[in-house]
Amino acid sequence: MNGQYDVSVNDVSAVYAGPGGKLWELLMGEEIHVGGAEQTDYLAKKAGIDEKGKDLILLDICSALGGPARHLVEKYGIRVIGVDITPEMIEEAQKRTIGKPFKDKIEYRHGSALDLPAHAKSFDVVWGQDSWCYVRDKKRLINETARVLKSGGTLAFTDWIWGSVQAPPNEADFLMAFMVFPDMQTLDGYANLIRAAGLKLKEQEDLSVDFAQNMDQYLVTLKKNKGNIIAGFGNDLYNEAEKGIIAWNKAAHEKKVGRGLWIATKT
Ligand SMILES: C[S@@+](CC[C@H](N)C(=O)[O-])C[C@H]1O[C@@H](n2cnc3c(N)ncnc32)[C@H](O)[C@@H]1O
Repeated sequence: MNGQYDVSVNDVSAVYAGPGGKLWELLMGEEIHVGGAEQTDYLAKKAGIDEKGKDLILLDICSALGGPARHLVEKYGIRVIGVDITPEMIEEAQKRTIGKPFKDKIEYRHGSALDLPAHAKSFDVVWGQDSWCYVRDKKRLINETARVLKSGGTLAFTDWIWGSVQAPPNEADFLMAFMVFPDMQTLDGYANLIRAAGLKLKEQEDLSVDFAQNMDQYLVTLKKNKGNIIAGFGNDLYNEAEKGIIAWNKAAHEKKVGRGLWIATKT
């Protein structure tokens, strides 16, 4: 596994407060993760959200624009609290939730994944989609999820990971700098952190083949929108994005990077 990278949380927030966040929305949609709403339903099924009933309260860590929060509340009738470190993301999520018939079942809180603005044992489900790669201290993050889960509660998340083939240091440096990731886990690395936090790992799934296919699609979408992106954000941002996505696409097909899913419970 590769090491830690010199990225601060302010660097990450600057991406999501600026054109970078808009570019990711353009490529992925307002649910800023691989697979959009379909993947949210996939994770919801794995987490047993349907069976747990409408009284369920879910914490979405790194909730961004609130796309998954609105989807989960609208479709499953549950309550969701989203936490994000970037004030602009919280404001935008709130704006997009105003006037929705289910708005009273959603709350967005400004805060850090490493010191969650939530009491112990207060959530039935703790949730994350493709964003914990932005958080440096994964051990502390997983310990925080265990703290705020109720007994019998479920941890359900997906994330970008290092793959089975080791990327050489210069390639790893470029991939991490482009995405502004301070640290990435492996499939088994997350499993170990989950167990070390006292949670019971129920399932882990390697979604890396699907990840590589989605990377193909992002490249197509990026190139199709070249004119709009250059008009809105300039040549430099377009060129940087194309270079970065080509590199991630190649690394994904070479199994150097991928994506995983984990389900665990608190006894
Ligand atoms: C890829 S987006 C999240 C996408 C979201 N999960 C979804 O599926 O729509 C990453 C988000 O993580 C947030 N973030 C990054 N580091 C964080 C931290 N330490 N604590 C809380 N939020 C953080 C960023 O502000 C950004 O909004």
